[in-house]
Amino acid sequence: MESISKLLFISALLLCSCSALKEGQTCVGDSNCDSGLHCETCVANGNLRPRCTRIQPVNPTSKVKGLPFNRYSWLTTHNSFARLGERSATGSLILAPSNQQDSITSQLDNGVRGFMLDMYDFENDIWLCHSFGGKCYNYTAFQPAINVLKEIQAFLEANPSEIVTIIIEDYVSSTNGLTKVFDAAGLRKFWFPVSRMPKNGGDWPTVDDMVQSNQRLLVFTSKSAKEASEGIAYQWRYMVENQYGNGGMVAGSCPNRAESPTMNTTSRSLVLVNYFPSAPDITQACKHNSAPLISMVDTCYEASSKRWPNFIAVDYYKRSDGGGAPEAVDATNGQLVCGCNNISLCKANMTFGACNLPQPSIAPEPGSVSPDFSSAYLSGRPAQLWWFLCTVIVIILLQL
Ligand SMILES: *[C@@H]1O[C@H](CO)[C@@H](O)[C@H](O)[C@H]1NC(C)=O
Ligand SMILES: *[C@@H]1O[C@H](CO)[C@@H](O)[C@H](O)[C@H]1NC(C)=O
Ligand SMILES: *[C@@H]1O[C@H](CO)[C@@H](O)[C@H](O)[C@H]1NC(C)=O
Ligand SMILES: *[C@@H]1O[C@H](CO)[C@@H](O)[C@H](O)[C@H]1NC(C)=O
Repeated sequence: MESISKLLFISALLLCSCSALKEGQTCVGDSNCDSGLHCETCVANGNLRPRCTRIQPVNPTSKVKGLPFNRYSWLTTHNSFARLGERSATGSLILAPSNQQDSITSQLDNGVRGFMLDMYDFENDIWLCHSFGGKCYNYTAFQPAINVLKEIQAFLEANPSEIVTIIIEDYVSSTNGLTKVFDAAGLRKFWFPVSRMPKNGGDWPTVDDMVQSNQRLLVFTSKSAKEASEGIAYQWRYMVENQYGNGGMVAGSCPNRAESPTMNTTSRSLVLVNYFPSAPDITQACKHNSAPLISMVDTCYEASSKRWPNFIAVDYYKRSDGGGAPEAVDATNGQLVCGCNNISLCKANMTFGACNLPQPSIAPEPGSVSPDFSSAYLSGRPAQLWWFLCTVIVIILLQL
């Protein structure tokens, strides 16, 4: 009898704790972890114990609304379309490396708001592709761009206060090729016009303004001529960007990529920080996306005339050693939005830099949910109720 109740007790404990594990707790599968987290190891950092780690940043506009667009930072995926294990839509096996683990829709659901997409003329259409010598092949072609653009369209339609940025590495030379594919995807209605982009380092319109005018899609191209011909913003007229690949991963230095003005060029209002190796590396990504990423964000802040990045671009954004890229984005948003080191500390109308002091050390109840977790993306699970039920079950079992 006693062993049965012990068994029941243990299984109840497992069941209960499994319903909503917090960051850093040992898990078996993703479903054990609280929302906004998943279950993984980081062998590259010597962490063999599967733990719940962050895959979602806090939505900064859920904390403080109404600031100019350039006062927020957004989680950005490098080669967002190059998904692990995907077969080419041509039917061919893909021989090019992958950079991410999930679909664009899943990335959007996790709070990714910047997408770096490589677009090519291919098969009489525009495709998302990697290249050899600027050319797309069946075995490097992922899928027609319209598929992914339609996923973004559906998200913008369903989420009327969200803003998305697309940064195109542009190999399209067909006449109005990009215009046609964006129109066909139904994205024209969300287009943020070039005429409203600040030309000399000024503030962007506020996010509220962008939402009210429904101009919630920013598109940048790497081809300067398309700004005049198709009304697509030339990226480096509005943004500075550091070196991508291995050259951008040297601790303590944040050089600009060749196409970008120097990082300290304040006539460009937006700052993009890349942090991923030249050859995508899924095993090392958990390490790269953790402390070294935060450190590079700090380095680039100094190099960019003390400006925090608006876009933080990584490979395998879900991989981390704990807080990962979402934590880097939260820290950056804290700085941009309210001058604190965490967006969770920002409140509407607070004085810039007047950060909350930590609460006097009242140990939280096990399983209690900090108020910050109840907002934005991390909401949706009645964890307190769960804990109440679990506690009741455990107490009953203890009486047996
Ligand atoms: C490439 O894929 C297309 C289908 O999209 C197919 O018609 C064509 O034969 C393929 N080319 C090669 C070289 O396999
Ligand atoms: C801006 O950065 C460049 C190097 O990226 C440096 O050579 C230059 O001196 C800096 N200018 C100012 C005003 O700090
Ligand atoms: C930001 O605050 C949240 C909620 O208090 C906390 O869980 C998280 O660890 C903090 N992040 C950093 C980078 O301090
Ligand atoms: C912040 O200030 C604005 C304007 O004064 C006011 O309308 C709003 O209610 C305030 N918000 C909060 C949360 O205090």
